[in-house]
Amino acid sequence: MASLFRTKSVEQSIRDTEEPGHQLRRRLSALDLTVFGVGVIVGTGIFVLTGQVAKDKAGPAVAISFVLAAVVCGLAALCYAEFASTVPVAGSAYTFSYATLGEFPAWIIGWDLILELALGAAVVAVGWSGYAVSLLDDIGITIPASISNPPGEGGSINIPAILLVLAVTALLVGGIKITSRVNAVIVGVKIAIVLLVIIAGLFFVKADNYSPFIPKSVSNDSVSGMQAPLMQVLFGITPVSFGWLGIFAAVALVFFAYIGFDIVATAAEEAKRPQRDMPIGLIGSLAVTAILYAAVSLVVVGMQNYTKLSDEAPLADAFKANGHSSFATIISIGAVVGLTSVVLILLLGQSRVFFAMGRDGLLPSWLSAVHPRFGTPYRSTIIMGTIVAALAGFIPLSKLAELVNIGTLFAFVVVSIGVVILRRTRPELPRAFRTPWVPVIPILSVLACLFVMINLPVETWLRFFAWMVIGVVIYFAYGARHSRVARATEAQQVKS
Ligand code: ALA
Repeated sequence: MASLFRTKSVEQSIRDTEEPGHQLRRRLSALDLTVFGVGVIVGTGIFVLTGQVAKDKAGPAVAISFVLAAVVCGLAALCYAEFASTVPVAGSAYTFSYATLGEFPAWIIGWDLILELALGAAVVAVGWSGYAVSLLDDIGITIPASISNPPGEGGSINIPAILLVLAVTALLVGGIKITSRVNAVIVGVKIAIVLLVIIAGLFFVKADNYSPFIPKSVSNDSVSGMQAPLMQVLFGITPVSFGWLGIFAAVALVFFAYIGFDIVATAAEEAKRPQRDMPIGLIGSLAVTAILYAAVSLVVVGMQNYTKLSDEAPLADAFKANGHSSFATIISIGAVVGLTSVVLILLLGQSRVFFAMGRDGLLPSWLSAVHPRFGTPYRSTIIMGTIVAALAGFIPLSKLAELVNIGTLFAFVVVSIGVVILRRTRPELPRAFRTPWVPVIPILSVLACLFVMINLPVETWLRFFAWMVIGVVIYFAYGARHSRVARATEAQQVKS
């Protein structure tokens, strides 16, 4: 039993990064990391959720929900920053858990991160395909629904999504520096378009649309069955729209818009000066995106009354409603370009987590081979790219998006707890960045994440548990027997 909780020392984790044939290259600066963060964070959230959530949940006050969600993520980011600056090793939450909670919890987190990273990449690739198909349609190229939707959603294969995933996989194999350069260009275009929306939109803002800023709260009919939020099942609290309670409930929805900032931590081993740059990358990207989100949402609800915002393309439709359809095309281009980097970085994070798990023997160790010329974990990248392409191409994913949220939040909870544990077990470790007010901030982080999690439907919780059970079975069938830490311990016992 104790072996389930054997930890891998921080020193061992750092030593492993120097092993020949398994070394990643330290090429990323603080700016690269921040751009990575912004590249993965700004995506579907800003292009879709702003309008949807204003209309259904928060009214013009949706900007407050975005800021509150940034606070939830910010609390977790403070914890990630301490870990990433203390254990600058690929694998993020997985690696941190191995150093603090032990092997089994680390495996659980590695398995859980697949939901955030691989499933997240597939979900966003499908969203990208939707925008790309409609953009092509605008210029007269029609892609038939049968080849741009998976079985069960009106087609037989989603070819655009598959092509996107394969293209970003090739880029990732090509090298971290080239990946980061391409990402920088994409982020530049994406941010320019978002700023254009903000500035151009300001000209159409009408003060009347801000009143009331916080509409009166309306109690929704309680949702029954599997769709009910866990909060309703546990405490009988029915969901509310608008008012302050609506603003809080909306936090659970807009949380998706921030998913990805933690991936900056998965690139710890490729940062030039991780101790200094990791905290800057994590917190910087979160701050930049929080400001952008709040600004975009204030502009959109100012352009069009929140009750009239569209569900599918709120930004574009707000411009159309003001007689400027040409902006719709620019926004679609922004979405197509912008979502590309989200998929790219989510896959980057996933390949690094598998790389780290392979290096530790919890997954087959050949996964952690580094390409002699490109310096990238090419095997784990190609395998994950193929799996994500298949998911995006053939599985109807629209119902699984909330699994991405729950998976991410669970990792945040574990990392926050891990910070407190590592402070107790290894107080002497040099920490370039220290989470302030420990244990207050980690505890607040855990509570904030749990609050968001219980706002998710029962169905999502059940799927999450099912996924975890599969993970436990795989751990005992493979990881527990092949773990390098376990083998080293056994070898030592034999010697003594
Ligand atoms: N935060 C990313 C998005 O909004 C996942 O698309």
